[in-house]
Amino acid sequence: MNFYQKIIFATLSVFLMIAACSTPEEECVKPGSKKKVGKYHMRQDSELTTLMKEMEDDFKRMKADIAAGKPAKPGLDYQKILTAHGTEAEEVPSESYQAFAKNFLQTMEAFEKADLEKSEQLYENLVTSCMNCHTVHCPGPKVRIEKLY
Ligand code: HEC
Repeated sequence: MNFYQKIIFATLSVFLMIAACSTPEEECVKPGSKKKVGKYHMRQDSELTTLMKEMEDDFKRMKADIAAGKPAKPGLDYQKILTAHGTEAEEVPSESYQAFAKNFLQTMEAFEKADLEKSEQLYENLVTSCMNCHTVHCPGPKVRIEKLY
């Protein structure tokens, strides 16, 4: 390698390292899929993405309430997960997504009725329900969701 080739090689390596590290953890990339959803495209958040961000905030608040021994009440209309438009049009209407969403909503119903003692366990079940759907439909944000336990 001559001097210039070394420079080019070094520049390329740095560039590749930056590219590898900058993959945002919230990306919704399915295993085996090259499709990227996130900051690489200047696009607006989908209705579902906006809702999911609100859900994340709502869960952070409920987690704090539970830790403080206060009753945790959901502050969102969670039924919207059944119909909100996602980034991929075929995602939300799919049988699999709908099954995960219904499971989540059933647990939410039990959670809303639960007393303080039971709500702690049901809160954990809810986060597991988030994780289950994400394993199949959107693995990227699981690192973020795990923090809600
Ligand atoms: C029924 C499936 C399902 C359930 C249940 C679910 N999610 Fe999601 N979530 C998705 C999908 C699909 C997306 C991608 C959104 C899109 O297509 O625009 C997403 C996106 C997200 C994102 C990424 C938002 C961003 O910044 O881009 C976060 C964070 C998130 N969900 C958190 C949660 C949390 C927290 C819960 C539980 C309280 C939850 N999700 C429950 C399917 C689900």
